Amino acid sequence: MLKRRLHIPPESLYPVDDWRIVERRYSDRYFARAETGFSLSNGYVGVRGTFEEGRPTWSRGTFINGFHETWPIVHPEESYGLARSGQTMVKAPDATVLRLFVDDEPLYLPTARMQEYARVLDMRAGTLTRELIWSTPAGKHVAVRSCRLVSLEHRHVVAITYEVVLLDHSAPVTICSELVNCEDLPIEHEDRPGDPRVGHELPQRVLNAVVAEDAGGRLLVGYQAVNSGMTLGVGVDHIVETAMPYETSHTIDGDFGELAVTANAEPGVPIRVTKFVAYQSSRSVPPRELVERCAWTLDRSIHGGFETLVEAQRAHLDRFWDRADVRVRGGTSSARTQQAIRWNLFQLAQATWRAEGAGVPAKGLTGRAYEGHYFWDTEVYLLPFLSYTQPRIARNLLRFRHSVLPKARARARELGHRGAMFPWRTINGEEASAYYQAGTAQYHINADIAYAIRRYVNARGDVDFLAEAGAEMLVETARLWEDLGFYADDGRFHIHGVTGPDEYTTVVDDNTYTNLMARLNLSYAVECVRRLEAERPAAHSALVDEVELRPEELEAWERAAAAMFVPYDERRGIHPQDSRFLDREIWDLDATPPDRFPLLLHYHPLEIYRHQVIKQADVVLAMFLLGDEFTEAAKRANFEYYDELTTGDSSLSASVQSIVAAEVGHQERALEYFRFALLMDLADAAGNVSDGVHVAAAGGVWQALVFGFGGVRDCDGRLTIEPHLPSAWESLEFPLRFRDRQLRVELGRRTERYTLEEGEPVEITIRGERRLLAAGQPLELEHVVV
Ligand code: BGC
Repeated sequence: MLKRRLHIPPESLYPVDDWRIVERRYSDRYFARAETGFSLSNGYVGVRGTFEEGRPTWSRGTFINGFHETWPIVHPEESYGLARSGQTMVKAPDATVLRLFVDDEPLYLPTARMQEYARVLDMRAGTLTRELIWSTPAGKHVAVRSCRLVSLEHRHVVAITYEVVLLDHSAPVTICSELVNCEDLPIEHEDRPGDPRVGHELPQRVLNAVVAEDAGGRLLVGYQAVNSGMTLGVGVDHIVETAMPYETSHTIDGDFGELAVTANAEPGVPIRVTKFVAYQSSRSVPPRELVERCAWTLDRSIHGGFETLVEAQRAHLDRFWDRADVRVRGGTSSARTQQAIRWNLFQLAQATWRAEGAGVPAKGLTGRAYEGHYFWDTEVYLLPFLSYTQPRIARNLLRFRHSVLPKARARARELGHRGAMFPWRTINGEEASAYYQAGTAQYHINADIAYAIRRYVNARGDVDFLAEAGAEMLVETARLWEDLGFYADDGRFHIHGVTGPDEYTTVVDDNTYTNLMARLNLSYAVECVRRLEAERPAAHSALVDEVELRPEELEAWERAAAAMFVPYDERRGIHPQDSRFLDREIWDLDATPPDRFPLLLHYHPLEIYRHQVIKQADVVLAMFLLGDEFTEAAKRANFEYYDELTTGDSSLSASVQSIVAAEVGHQERALEYFRFALLMDLADAAGNVSDGVHVAAAGGVWQALVFGFGGVRDCDGRLTIEPHLPSAWESLEFPLRFRDRQLRVELGRRTERYTLEEGEPVEITIRGERRLLAAGQPLELEHVVV
């Protein structure tokens, strides 16, 4: 049962709209939440939904994926092998600021009198627009319209138009376009001091400019981070359009740049400033060169103009929605559900579309919480969505993991292991989890990566990827498991001293999830090496040389997989989360006051660890990912047992609980969990949306729709579909990309339609029956859902 209630203050909800999120009045109370909700990003650059006119606050931010500072983690009590390299995503200079002065009075939203106000996130256009009419202190009326985008076409570009029209009187007007280094703002959330998830205050200033140039109003700045040595270039340029005479002045230093446009404005004559911004970051290129690159990008953007960016933006999103849009009809609030689904899917596009050569931070580029780190969230919560909708991006993200394999090898050696050990949280490939119990000990990330490789390869049939990068990662992760585990007296292979996905129980023996996933990792590594040997002998020999693979290793992995110990409690008919989990006292969740959640903020870890209480799906996640490993009876029994113990304190839990609830026949609960995941951010279900989007939860929403209610499973490259349409819904429709085919699934209460829109015929198993789908011959099935 859902242990946390959704408290949705009605005034905090946006009006229902198919494709847009519309804010109809300015709210000072919800500004930080709204900044998250109205964030724009392309996976490389992200800007929070700040107001152009500025508001000095901790929450504003522009982020560049991977641009980070490092700092030494100081452990007051040292131990061997603890993570040393703190990594923190640094706020890049904020270029969203355009201040407006009429009669020298500033437009400042918290205090301004506004006659009209609307802010619109358009999820098809990929733009954020705001229109308002301001009554100035002198009683003049001014229409202000802004529109911004973070380009999906040109990953380095952010562009904003800002248009001002005096409606009734003339007045001097100044528009100050700024570039502000805001890294010194405190990061601490005003309402939740001490929340460890928020992020780390950097010990020193990071962005000291080494280049600051004003080339005739074009502002160019270059930085080098003090410790990481990473470099950043930022460039800003403008187009001013108006039928009135105007003047400009400009200035720049390392922390502040400005272009001011001044006119004696006449009523009815617009003045429009279009601001183009370019960001470039690197690990090795000097700042001066990055600044030059920014200048080229600006030349191109100015030449093409804002409208060209708008058109390209739409074209990218057309492609995205064509492959990703999930439609739901029916139910009391289906229009709101639809809107929220789209917002979540839009977040997935924003977090990943141009994340080339980098991972996906837990908050995407919408906030600095979790320090901008990449976790298993990418492999388990995003890769499935990407593999079946945008496989190009799935491949890029897996390639990023491959790029940090050398560091994972070094980390394994440091910890005395063979193979590779991927970091629990990282930006640069090194382990950054200071709290090893809930960090480094989550060895399962190695198997999560292996699982994601398998899913991607199955969904796309991409053996080339296995040959180029996948098999190498599989070999090294398999080596790790074989080294980490051991044969006990019972002859079984055990894995001790690890933490599973549930962070409320740490450093345990034989975590069921870990053991099952490790088993899959071991056997899939063997399968892939043999497959390459048979199908790509050259790639196989290269692999054998590269990783010095010995034939007896494969046998050892097979042996370990076959002997893997999987905890099972005969009496209860369930899989214990780990070997001692059921011996612990049960936490009384019903007696826990609502204001003591999440438990991690209110109880000492020891108090939590000594109880049976769960932060997030663990065995239940294993049942979703590895459904074939569990009997129907065990699935039901496990679900019911763990459901009672699960707090849902992690945003990664509800979607998985929804999927398994749908599978084991708890339709109401499936819907309840789905709703919780769906509104995680739009209704601030977890209470911390101001820190940024829960990107994994957004991925979970897609999974709950397609794998949960849609009942889709991929069994070794064969699609099966066992729908569980909620009784409150009339229909559910979604596209799926599968092995160069484009499929569409439409599930109704009475009929179901399966269409192959593109590609060669394909066999899928629907409700246990094999069916052949061919292009132009949709399969219609009569089916009555009770
Ligand atoms: C969860 C982890 C997750 C991390 C980042 C934590 O609260 O327990 O599973 O990877 O958040 O989203």
